[in-house]
Amino acid sequence: MTTKPPENPEITLDPENWEELRAQGHRMLDDMLDYLEHVRERPVWRPIPDEVRARFRSGLPQESAELAAVYDEFAKFVVPYAAGNTHPGFMGWVHGGGTPVGMLAEMLAAGLNANLGGRDHIPVEVERQIVEWSRQMFGFPQGSTGLFVTGTSLANFIAVLVARTWALGREVRVKGIAGEGAHLRAYTSAAAHRCIPLAMDLCGLGTGALHMVPTDDHSRMDIAELERAIAADRAAGLKPFLVIGTAGTVDAGAIDDLEALAALCRREQLRFHIDGAFGALAVLSPELKPRVLGIEQADSIAFDFHKWGQVPYDAGFVLLRDGALHRDTFATPAAYLRPYAKGLAAGSPWFSDFGPDLSRGFRALKTWFTLKTFGTRRMGQVIARTCALARHLEARVRAEPKLELLAPAQLNIVCFRYGSSDELNARIVVKLHESGIVAPSTTSIGGKLAIRAAFVNHRSQTRDADALVAAVLRFGAEG
Ligand SMILES: Cc1ncc(COP(=O)(O)O)c(C=O)c1O
Repeated sequence: MTTKPPENPEITLDPENWEELRAQGHRMLDDMLDYLEHVRERPVWRPIPDEVRARFRSGLPQESAELAAVYDEFAKFVVPYAAGNTHPGFMGWVHGGGTPVGMLAEMLAAGLNANLGGRDHIPVEVERQIVEWSRQMFGFPQGSTGLFVTGTSLANFIAVLVARTWALGREVRVKGIAGEGAHLRAYTSAAAHRCIPLAMDLCGLGTGALHMVPTDDHSRMDIAELERAIAADRAAGLKPFLVIGTAGTVDAGAIDDLEALAALCRREQLRFHIDGAFGALAVLSPELKPRVLGIEQADSIAFDFHKWGQVPYDAGFVLLRDGALHRDTFATPAAYLRPYAKGLAAGSPWFSDFGPDLSRGFRALKTWFTLKTFGTRRMGQVIARTCALARHLEARVRAEPKLELLAPAQLNIVCFRYGSSDELNARIVVKLHESGIVAPSTTSIGGKLAIRAAFVNHRSQTRDADALVAAVLRFGAEG
């Protein structure tokens, strides 16, 4: 198609020939659907050749090019070298698989090019609908607020900022945390994700104000240790203000005793936040829901629709029980953003009153499509199945004398290793990646390097867990 600028002076970026663009667009759509339909036939991941990497270090393009030529470059040099988390053999870190439905919704969102920072338009109502559905999912009260962010790292950061407002009052936004703020103390488990200390750092309280409470044998926060730490801090004149529980730790999928933490927070008059990056959506499975009991009592929950929710990246979310406090933490009036009762500038409060972003994309649409198309029942079944896969892998590991189970399947994650050498296991994982068969990640469990398989992708099946075991035994035997 022709993308050269037209001769007339009113240059736009729309095509001269819409029919050609339409045909090209249909080709691109078909190719991507083919890609997803046949994802299993390709390697999970493949090493990136130097010459391919070099193509992405070229100079700034000054002249126009044909869309078909740019797409050809994408098809040849981007598609084959993606991370592979759409592939059923992907078991690394905590990555969702995405769906064709989410992909199509993302295209529609880009077509509307909506900015959800504010104003009165239906895309904002779609995000409000997701807030309402999340409120219902977690049993939060009317008046709860929430919003989409990139991921749980940012969602946790927002929740810590709201807790800071709760502890120090709205004035903290003017005065900063000097004075009383220096005495605040927060608590989370030693198994918490690194974004929790990062959130403390980013909001000025510092990682030193976060107590990493030891865990029990199941990687859950030790509640007696937590109580001791709070009492010791109070005795030292410090001001405990926040407990952050985890629903699904990143290493082992452990779930803190959320009911006990909620009761403790009520007793001690502390704020209770839950990092439920992937585990929070266990509420969608009747079988798993009892495991996260207590989540409904939290003051806030951070989680991702892009993990167990299978919404394409990115779709992080934070839900807060006290909408007024949430708004107090972020609302920043400005003349050029003045809300009106009528017209396009109506619809206050806006999402920009509830978070740091003013320009915000339409993440809500792919989530709305996902929830409406599949329904929570089916999504809950997918989530439960990933946990069944982990149990299957655990049984396979237990049955192999050469494999050592390091973390059993508490949820959807299994950690194990071959033999006793860290170096050998690190080599095995690189070989697994380079083979394109499966892609687990690594972590450290009890000081031992572990092969970590996290089943998040809805496409993963028993044969993928079996392929992992077979390949680990093969590469392990190679040394
Ligand atoms: C328990 C936990 N918290 C937080 C995060 C960070 O989430 P995100 O990568 O969406 O920022 C993760 C990521 O895996 C996680 O497992």
